[in-house]
Amino acid sequence: MYKANEPLELTLLYHWNSPPPTGYVKQVPATEMRYMSEAAVIELPAVPQDNYLTNLLRQRHSVRAFQDTEMPLISLGQLLDAACGINGLHDVEGHIFEGRNSPSAGGLYPIEMFVSIQGVTGLSAGLYHYEPRGHGLHWVNESVPSDFVEPLLHQDYVANANALFIMTGVFMRSLHKYSTRGYRFILFEAGHQAQNICLMAVELGLGSLCLGGFNDTSINHILGIDGQRHAALYCIAVGTEKSS
Ligand SMILES: Cc1cc2nc3c(=O)[nH]c(=O)nc-3n(C[C@H](O)[C@H](O)[C@H](O)COP(=O)(O)O)c2cc1C
Repeated sequence: MYKANEPLELTLLYHWNSPPPTGYVKQVPATEMRYMSEAAVIELPAVPQDNYLTNLLRQRHSVRAFQDTEMPLISLGQLLDAACGINGLHDVEGHIFEGRNSPSAGGLYPIEMFVSIQGVTGLSAGLYHYEPRGHGLHWVNESVPSDFVEPLLHQDYVANANALFIMTGVFMRSLHKYSTRGYRFILFEAGHQAQNICLMAVELGLGSLCLGGFNDTSINHILGIDGQRHAALYCIAVGTEKSS
């Protein structure tokens, strides 16, 4: 096993050596190595269709064409709150902890949320950072979703999105407690928050697209973060789906 001097060093070794691929290796069919493919199947009860969450899950799909329309400010607030909003304070053996709408290993919350917006009623277009404590936005700079098209490897699907959420990780927040395992946790946590955004988007009548293909250095540069201790992890575009 490769031994690095410290957790951050090993984390960065993987992080920086996992850029979007330039070519594809041999395709593996989904049937390859399917677990217990020969075993008898015990059928499960049909999934009830009147379940609210089931209904949201069924409707979620990737949207790659958004309409050039406005989104209400309350919708932006709901999307941010779904991802990382605070839902109360919990007293655990005399220690007060913040509860949030998505789980975090050890309650350390290593994910930061940036959002590049355009066409949100009552809010100037540009890039903001979300502060869950106080449920507010900090102005970062003037970057709108179309400024991210090139860093997103020319995926111009985001051009008319109302909001492009960019999740970043402050690695040492988790690594100081969980060492290299913390890197896994950070990626899981970005996934939890992303799913909350996708489902809230459905609830609000909006569409979403998760984007993992991007040039790390360019995105980190736009956000003004160092890309080492604090780096971009995942993007989600949200807007009104263009009818075909
Ligand atoms: C980690 C991750 C990264 C993804 N990156 C991209 C991307 O860069 N561009 C894109 O068009 N779709 C991207 N997608 C969306 C997938 O292509 C999509 O979820 C998949 O085709 C299934 O379709 P559905 O979302 O409509 O169910 C990504 C999805 C995930 C989970």
